[in-house]
Amino acid sequence: MSLPITYYNDPVLRKKGKPVESFDSGLTELFEAMVATMHEADGIGLAAQQVGKALRFCVVDLRESPSEFQYVLDGRDNVPTDLFMPLALANPEITYLPGEPIVFEEGCLSFPDIRGDVERPSRIRARYQDLKGNPHTLECDGILARCILHEVDHLNGVLFIDRMEKKTVKLLEKKLKILKRRTRDALKTH
Ligand code: NI
Repeated sequence: MSLPITYYNDPVLRKKGKPVESFDSGLTELFEAMVATMHEADGIGLAAQQVGKALRFCVVDLRESPSEFQYVLDGRDNVPTDLFMPLALANPEITYLPGEPIVFEEGCLSFPDIRGDVERPSRIRARYQDLKGNPHTLECDGILARCILHEVDHLNGVLFIDRMEKKTVKLLEKKLKILKRRTRDALKTH
């Protein structure tokens, strides 16, 4: 069952997530609903804030992504993506690894039809817990690193427009204004 997605200007998108403390069936249900929501919307990542929950939890699925990426999961570089995606990241902590930052165009399910260039570190290490609370370490680059960075930003109430250059945001100004108003009006009527 998929969930309604929250859009830009919904206050929950600016809330910092609370740590995940219960690794129970409720978390698995949330995971499944978030994955269904993400797939239905053709997204590659989704954060709890985007389904109205201020929680340090997000999902990522890049099995259909044409972009390449490299990764080492728990010290192994040969884990097939099917074995760990869709990926559940609870309480993720990010460390940047050496490498030149990369500029790449991003979208976000909370910003329909809005895309813009964002500069991000190229390689990261993510420490997180899975649905059972087991700790993992994922080192990665490419679209996987970018996607995790984008989602973890959501968990801190940070949006991709905050990471864009001023001139990029300026180009999107009109679309952002319309979306902002639409979200405000929709929140009023519910
Ligand atoms: Ni997003």
